[in-house]
Amino acid sequence: MEITISPNYDEMSKAAAQVVAELVKSKPNAVLGLATGSSPLGLYGELIRMHREDGLDFSKVRSFNLDEYVGLRPEHEQSYRYFMEKNLFDDLNIKKENTRVPSGTAEDYAKHCEEYEQEIRQAGGIDLQVLGIGSDGHIGFNEPGTSLASRTHVTVLTQQTIADNARFFEKKEDVPIRACTMGVGTVLETRKCILLASGKGKVKAIAQALEGPVTSMCTASALQLHPDTSVFLDQEAASGLKLLDYYKWVQQNR
Ligand code: GLP
Repeated sequence: MEITISPNYDEMSKAAAQVVAELVKSKPNAVLGLATGSSPLGLYGELIRMHREDGLDFSKVRSFNLDEYVGLRPEHEQSYRYFMEKNLFDDLNIKKENTRVPSGTAEDYAKHCEEYEQEIRQAGGIDLQVLGIGSDGHIGFNEPGTSLASRTHVTVLTQQTIADNARFFEKKEDVPIRACTMGVGTVLETRKCILLASGKGKVKAIAQALEGPVTSMCTASALQLHPDTSVFLDQEAASGLKLLDYYKWVQQNR
């Protein structure tokens, strides 16, 4: 894993956006895997700026989002479809029909999950997957204990994730209990991953993911088995890493 430690969130976001922009320039019909949450918000803001100011072109880009809450309609303000439209798609020239987010209201989830995987395959696979990390070490909504070979599936959220995400809802009881998420196996098949984490709340999860054993107890640790993952951290999120000085040394000399 290539680790880039930035002084703050904005610098972290800019460094990560550079990687996405380079891909989109070199492969205009790139397939992006996208994530929601506060971690990639700055990266999305930077992509919007590059689109407006430098003409970064998304007209041929296709995208697949990692996950969606089960039970929320696309127009629900806390749905991940809504999040993506408001925080990225509406401000880029990406074609809406080229953007995919798992359904929050599928009648037959087994079928929907299979079709989602199939669509990713038909698109030629995901070139670059953007990832955040949950405080329990999850990627997408792959909670502790999820098989590292899992594919797109419906999962039950942990109490911790529900509590973490309650800040976006009026009350904790409004947070959906289930979600549809790409599996860890789906993520491991993407050609490149970028994992973003900032702030004190992510110190433990990042230490476990990067330096702990590969275990389903921290599904982000599976990225140690991914051949091309770049990790973008701010100082705080990086502060619990045992080899912090070494990573900084590598960063200066690569
Ligand atoms: C949710 C999402 C994850 C995201 C995580 C962290 O649980 N399903 O994809 O990485 O939250 O969110 P944040 O970036 O807001 O800390």
